[in-house]
Amino acid sequence: MRVIECDSQDQAAELVAAEILAALARKPDLVLGLATGSTPIGVYERLVAAHRAGRADFTRVRTFNLDEYIGLPAAHEQSYRTFMKRHLFDAIGIRPGQVHFPPVEGNDLAAACAAYELTIKNTGGIDIQLLGVGSNGHIGFNEPTSSLASRTRVKTLTDKTLGDNARFYASGEGPPQMAVTMGVGTILEARRILLQSFGTKKAQAVHAAVEGPISSFWPASALQLHPDVTFFVDAESASLLSMRDYYRRVRANELRLRGR
Ligand code: GLP
Repeated sequence: MRVIECDSQDQAAELVAAEILAALARKPDLVLGLATGSTPIGVYERLVAAHRAGRADFTRVRTFNLDEYIGLPAAHEQSYRTFMKRHLFDAIGIRPGQVHFPPVEGNDLAAACAAYELTIKNTGGIDIQLLGVGSNGHIGFNEPTSSLASRTRVKTLTDKTLGDNARFYASGEGPPQMAVTMGVGTILEARRILLQSFGTKKAQAVHAAVEGPISSFWPASALQLHPDVTFFVDAESASLLSMRDYYRRVRANELRLRGR
């Protein structure tokens, strides 16, 4: 596990976007696992800027989103499909056939979730999975106590998550209670995982994920089982890490080696 403490959210977004653009240059039909929420917006802005500057070609990329709410029509202001169109897809000219979302409609969601898993597999698997983290340690919508072997499925959201997301909904409307999310097991199959976390609100989750025991109570701690995960955190999210100095030294050594 690598922990990179960044000077700012902008620096984190810059580093993550650079990783994605470098991977895209190597593999034009890159398979990306995408996240929503406020955390990845800076990365999407940079991907859009690279596209507009003619530095990135997304015509062969395939994308799989982590999660989607049940009960919101695709065009709803707060659906993750709307979020992705607004922050990335429309601006990089991606075609509908290139993007995939967990299924949230129809009367056999279990079968549709299994089909989603199969589509990921048939596409060759996810090359880079972008992640944020919930203040309770969730990844995607894998809430605490999610099986660490879980696959794409329906999850009921915790009060904590509903409270964190309530700000996006008009009073009286309330956030959806359920979502379909890739499972922890699904996420762990991505070849590479880039997680960003900003703010004091996430400090406990970052500490549990990086330094805590592996536990379904902090689903992000399952990332310790993955061979290629990088946490890009700001000083606030890093504030509870006990080996903070060590992570800084590892990073400095890594940059020194790279410069040789
Ligand atoms: C939601 C999403 C997660 C995201 C989390 C954090 O619950 N399902 O994928 O990581 O929110 O959101 P934010 O980035 O806005 O803090």
